[in-house]
Amino acid sequence: MVERKKWSSSILFIMACVGSAVGLGNIWKFPYITYENGGGTFVLVYLLAVLIIGMPILLAEMLIGRNSERNAYDAIVKLSNQNRWWKLVGALCLFTGFGILSFYSVVAGWTVDYFINALLGNLSHLDFTTTGQHFGSFVSNPGKQILYHTIFMAMTSLIVWRGTKGIEKAIEVLMPVLGVLIVVVMSVTVSKYGAGDTLNFLFDIDLSKITAHAILEAMGHAFFTLSVGMGTMIVYGSYFPKKNSLLKATLWIGVLDTIFALMACLMIYPIIFGTKMEVRESASILFTTLSVELQHLPFGNYICAVFYLLIAFAALSSTISLLEPVTAFFIENRNMSRAKATLVSGGSIWFLGVFCALSNGGSEFISKLKIMDHLDYITSNWTLPLGGILLAIFCAYVISNDEKARELNVSKDSMLFKSWNFLLKIVAPTLVLIVMIYRIFNS
Ligand code: TRP
Repeated sequence: MVERKKWSSSILFIMACVGSAVGLGNIWKFPYITYENGGGTFVLVYLLAVLIIGMPILLAEMLIGRNSERNAYDAIVKLSNQNRWWKLVGALCLFTGFGILSFYSVVAGWTVDYFINALLGNLSHLDFTTTGQHFGSFVSNPGKQILYHTIFMAMTSLIVWRGTKGIEKAIEVLMPVLGVLIVVVMSVTVSKYGAGDTLNFLFDIDLSKITAHAILEAMGHAFFTLSVGMGTMIVYGSYFPKKNSLLKATLWIGVLDTIFALMACLMIYPIIFGTKMEVRESASILFTTLSVELQHLPFGNYICAVFYLLIAFAALSSTISLLEPVTAFFIENRNMSRAKATLVSGGSIWFLGVFCALSNGGSEFISKLKIMDHLDYITSNWTLPLGGILLAIFCAYVISNDEKARELNVSKDSMLFKSWNFLLKIVAPTLVLIVMIYRIFNS
């Protein structure tokens, strides 16, 4: 057997994982769910969720990958000795990958259109009354929706086509540029409106304000933002050389992902608080009200363009991590060449994505079925958390403690190892299960 391709360095591996983690979840979703759930208290719950659920499962996934040197499906099959129930978990991971990428790519595509139009000055005539209409007519334009979704899937596929080398090359450019651009926009908004209100909001903790809804949302988001629950990190971990530390990688990914999410708030909230903006539809604010306010900043057109470009970069480094697991499955399980596997996985996800692209008004029939909303709902709220707990349980019970301790290069009697194993065995599955049961009874 040919030796499996590996990341060229530990730093590149961490950058690829951070690239996967930092995406629309950080820049689009985190600021609005934090806003909706009242700020500081939610941030605290979220940090706890990342620490006791997200990061332990992240480590578990990477360990499963590095130990088996396979994609998620085949890793589970191999380590469970072909157990047919566990195979279903592998299949669940594949399904989630298909589902998430098909709608994610559509939203990512929106940023490309907004970037181009901001740059050309085509957004500058919009005001608070027309921006919503503009967004509405854009998302219901079938041609444009399919075009931008296609562009995004094509870029993603071209990178994945070249394997780890391609991903590394892309990440080496995307991540540093993303870091710089976010600091640029953040500096502009903070210097114009100040950071005082934002910081007060983000760090104002009042434990009496915690709601069940906030806890659920925080837990669900912890999975999504760290890219765990569908085997992305199994695949990325499977390309990680044995000599490098998985523990260190987990820590870096958790910390950097959180920093990016908080920076996104520091970039967006000063505008909201500074202009006393009325936030009605927080989910689409990124493409409506915010685009108008960004134009009012110094060099407005360009700042606005930079803003959408940075979101596109964050999204692209995530879409490649959603396509790679599916592609790796076709290579390793179906014996396809990488070129063919990329074509098959990218092509079929593109096809499913077309239905999402048409489900915001582009096609009357498809919009009625709300395919995009349903796929988002099912994957983010159900299959991702379910995949997450099952992978936690898999790592906790199927892989022996000796094997795990060896992978992590720690003693199995150490506090660190024991606490991690306990979180995987009991805490994370119980908490996630409670969330799911609560959701069933409240929907
Ligand atoms: N974490 C990314 C974000 O925050 C999205 C993402 C990439 C993802 N790969 C994933 C989510 C795998 C779940 C599973 O936008």
